[in-house]
Amino acid sequence: MKILIVDDEDISKNILLSKMAHMGTCVAVNNAKEALEELDKAKTDNQPFDLITLDVAMPGMGGQELLEHIRKNEIKNKIPKDDRVKILMITSRMNVGTINACIKRGCNGYLTKPVSQTQLIQSISQMGFELEQAENSGEKELSSSSGVAEIIKRFYSGKIILPVFPSIVKEIEELMAGKDPSVDDLAKIVEKDLVISGKLITVANSSLYKGLDDVNSLNGALVRLGLKHTLAACSALATRNLFDSDNEALKIEMDKLWVHSFAVASLARRLAEEKGFDNLDTVFLMGLVHDIGKMLLMKAFVDVYPDVSISDESLQLAIHEIHTTFGGVLLKKMHFSKQIIKIAEFHHWDKFEGNTDKELLVISLADSLTRLLGFSVLSKKDEDNTPEFEEGDLALEVENDEVKKFELDHDKIMEELSGVSALKVLDLDPEKVFSILEQIQPMIKENSRAF
Ligand SMILES: [Fe+2]
Ligand SMILES: [Fe+2]
Repeated sequence: MKILIVDDEDISKNILLSKMAHMGTCVAVNNAKEALEELDKAKTDNQPFDLITLDVAMPGMGGQELLEHIRKNEIKNKIPKDDRVKILMITSRMNVGTINACIKRGCNGYLTKPVSQTQLIQSISQMGFELEQAENSGEKELSSSSGVAEIIKRFYSGKIILPVFPSIVKEIEELMAGKDPSVDDLAKIVEKDLVISGKLITVANSSLYKGLDDVNSLNGALVRLGLKHTLAACSALATRNLFDSDNEALKIEMDKLWVHSFAVASLARRLAEEKGFDNLDTVFLMGLVHDIGKMLLMKAFVDVYPDVSISDESLQLAIHEIHTTFGGVLLKKMHFSKQIIKIAEFHHWDKFEGNTDKELLVISLADSLTRLLGFSVLSKKDEDNTPEFEEGDLALEVENDEVKKFELDHDKIMEELSGVSALKVLDLDPEKVFSILEQIQPMIKENSRAF
């Protein structure tokens, strides 16, 4: 059997490749354009594909359009119904409207991410292909994706408790948007939240804002931080709370995710400043919550399956695969703005058009740059450069710093940057971005500990 896998996300593509390699010859491409080239080539060689898996959400021509395009071509070329390629739509969007639209356009099957081996085998068999069971379809992998699928099911049936995002951030945002906000007004809002106001004093004394003397009162802290920084600091404190856990193993993962989120927020804010955006605080908040789907999925997983190791690689991959769509749904339920929801949904796209929201571009760029800085949560291959965290004690990083000084490889980074779509659309100078990275790397480490 000849299989074409079309998916813009590397991780999803690799998951499909590993699950389908034993079924036949697989070719994997990143987008509709490359898919059409492969189909043309197959036609010229007279070796047509038997099966195509299509990701629904791709930048440029999406899965549905590509499906329609392929079917129209087949009709035009008078290919008999039985000889037409089988098309399996794969998406993270669990919505009946999309399913119906795909069926109407002529797909043969439909699966939602994370795709389990069992689901795949079942739908491909349903299309009439005869498959042998994979010899090593590792049970662990199977349980990870079906475990995540179970969490999603529970979430949609309302059985998972949503995190509560403190109202303080919204109240401050409203105050700032109003006429002549004063520090006194601000104090009235902040003092209602004892946890946050207490921590605000610590933040005001951290190296991030440090003055000559220590401040000991909320008012002193507010004066030092000023109206603008208070909003950012409160957002960070409020978000930091969500990344807390009593479970030790989960706490380690949450701390990594927090540092990653803080790194994305700080870097995105700096890049936005470079481009002259006027909503730097919003960009910062967007960075803090961009991976919120991952946070809740991990928490829910540990609640439902307390005995499963949350740092298991296949489980982390299954969570990664679904976290964008899930994050979007989650932020919507938490009443965040449409713009922030979009960030959660699309920050892993790797090809952007000129008309993309500039906030999405900086977050996506910052997210890929954090990998180069060693603040990634996932990539095993970068492990050598990734700081290690232990049991939530971020101070331990200092010891690591001394042993392993993190150095940025100019040439390697330049090479990586040359392929980043968001950088081009934003029209940022790669050399400038490199100097920002050098500047901000040590600051991120230090500042993330203040919260
Ligand atoms: Fe992400
Ligand atoms: Fe991320």
